[in-house]
Amino acid sequence: MKKGIIILGSSNSNGDTYKAASFVSQQMNYSIIDLKTKNIAEFDYEFKNRNDDFHPLINEVVSQYDLIVFATPVYWYTMSGILKTFLDRISDCLKIEKDVGRKLRGMEMAVLSCGSDKQLKDGFHMPFVETSKYLGMNYIGDVHCWIENNNLPHLVETKLGDFINQIQ
Ligand SMILES: Cc1cc2nc3c(=O)[nH]c(=O)nc-3n(C[C@H](O)[C@H](O)[C@H](O)COP(=O)(O)O)c2cc1C
Repeated sequence: MKKGIIILGSSNSNGDTYKAASFVSQQMNYSIIDLKTKNIAEFDYEFKNRNDDFHPLINEVVSQYDLIVFATPVYWYTMSGILKTFLDRISDCLKIEKDVGRKLRGMEMAVLSCGSDKQLKDGFHMPFVETSKYLGMNYIGDVHCWIENNNLPHLVETKLGDFINQIQ
């Protein structure tokens, strides 16, 4: 069976994106890695941040999982800064940890987003789709969520159910 991991990139560890990610986590028995609890600095051309939490984390991900589900809130029409920083750091794997970069090839990627709007603007998924292509990963699907009265609305639960069917 496919082994998946959810990488949560929200500024709120128990916020709306976490609620939607938890639904998937429970149904699929996937763990959630909360980037907010990690010390991951921005990409540096001299790799001065190589000893922070990024390398142990990405090593764990590529060695133990087949599928990465990126879970991000929509902040200013795009992914969160925390998640973007994580994606930027994948550049480390193309330069100094090439083995890790190679292991990303053939892995799968999916995206769960959560916003206050029920619809994403065009192009939201482009960075994920193109990053997958560049890394030789397979982009297998996405779902957009929102919260009403602190809960996942029925429609969002249905969408999440469809997403689970798509990625499993
Ligand atoms: C900095 C910031 C920017 C936001 N920009 C958008 C946006 O462009 N589109 C949108 O639909 N919601 C936007 N929102 C609302 C959040 O996406 C929404 O409240 C989401 O459910 C928050 O998830 P979280 O609790 O995981 O942070 C923004 C919220 C914040 C804090």
